[in-house]
Amino acid sequence: MDWSSLGGVAEIRAYQQSDRGAVRSFRCETPGQNFTRDAQRVIRRAPDEIASESDVEVWIAVAEVRDAGVVGVVVYLAQAIGVELNQETRPFIAALGVRQEFRRRGIGTLLKTAAMLDMADRGIDGPTVSLVNRRNIPMLTLNQSRFEANVEPDPDDPSDLVVTAAIEPVD
Ligand SMILES: CC(C)(COP(=O)(O)OP(=O)(O)OC[C@H]1O[C@@H](n2cnc3c(N)ncnc32)[C@H](O)[C@@H]1OP(=O)(O)O)[C@@H](O)C(=O)NCCC(=O)NCCS
Repeated sequence: MDWSSLGGVAEIRAYQQSDRGAVRSFRCETPGQNFTRDAQRVIRRAPDEIASESDVEVWIAVAEVRDAGVVGVVVYLAQAIGVELNQETRPFIAALGVRQEFRRRGIGTLLKTAAMLDMADRGIDGPTVSLVNRRNIPMLTLNQSRFEANVEPDPDDPSDLVVTAAIEPVD
């Protein structure tokens, strides 16, 4: 799929070594919403995780606007679930962030879709799981409006919700 034509705003592609600096200093914290710092922290740590050969995957959005650089990042992995912890693996979105001045243009939706499709390509399909702070209205609304996500309380953390989203298979 030619991601670059989608939305006309950004190119969506897999992280490359040359993106390291931009991702390590990526900014998506929203003033007044401390919980958005967690996503930023996970994103900034991702290049080191990749360097240490963990299973983390990263895709980025690059603006077509000249010199804007990396404007969105998604960090995801295949996570073992089940009692034995190796029974099954599911796609897990660890963090999704879009730079504040590039929001509400569909970039967050494209990045999450790209992560889900990439995981499906690798044979890690089924519903994609993420943990979202209860007060994170942008992320919760994105999941509901774009992915008709299922939302449940997180038994391990009362401030979070467990969000499960799926996409229709594409030919
Ligand atoms: C959550 C986030 C990634 C969304 O990125 P985005 O590129 O703005 O998302 P999209 O443009 O794809 O939004 C799709 C839909 O989600 C909903 N949405 C997004 N932001 C919203 C907001 N601030 N308020 C209400 N609904 C919102 C809308 O339904 C929107 O569609 P619309 O613009 O046509 O109304 C971005 O706000 C962000 O980086 N937040 C800080 C980091 C964070 O909290 N990440 C999530 C936890 S890991």
